[in-house]
Amino acid sequence: MTTTSSPPAGTPSAARRRVLVTLAKAVGATLTAAIAAPVALFLGHPLRRSSVRFATGLTRVGPVEHFELGKPMKVAVTAPRQDAWLTTPAVTVGSVWVIRTAEKPPAFTVLSTTCPHLGCSVNATGEAETPFRCPCHNARFGLDGTKVVLGGTNPAPRPMDALEHAVKDDALWVRYERFKTGTAERIPVGSGAA
Ligand code: FES
Repeated sequence: MTTTSSPPAGTPSAARRRVLVTLAKAVGATLTAAIAAPVALFLGHPLRRSSVRFATGLTRVGPVEHFELGKPMKVAVTAPRQDAWLTTPAVTVGSVWVIRTAEKPPAFTVLSTTCPHLGCSVNATGEAETPFRCPCHNARFGLDGTKVVLGGTNPAPRPMDALEHAVKDDALWVRYERFKTGTAERIPVGSGAA
């Protein structure tokens, strides 16, 4: 009968085994890096993420004298747009209803045209009682954006969204913002195009 036993540590074959294990680990690490690097580059590429940003400051929407007292006027809002490679100076990000509320000094109400119910575009009606109406599900609003309940129903969960604005250099400036629809609470979701 024959018996086998491991060579004692320090013998040539134990040393060879340690070298082989070290080499195998080094090869494994190199292969992992070779596979992981292109994947990481692919996942990190600008085209794979939402890299479009819009300026969030106040945007000039028109000279003060452009707006008539008490008459809603719809104006487009533009903002510089930055993506992975380009800055575009003026891109339309949305529109607002502007209502001039005082002549001197000039004062305004600025409302998002996006219906807070499900996001349709709110229209002006020319009617005194309900100057704003959403054509999708008939939500109605007053000149200051408050909900008007006619016949006991109004599907809008909150008033029209009033936007921050300022008068400077004889012009009206607006900070355009979008808010989550379908919620009673105003939850900002961004400043750029949807
Ligand atoms: S989206 Fe405006 S009433 Fe429904």
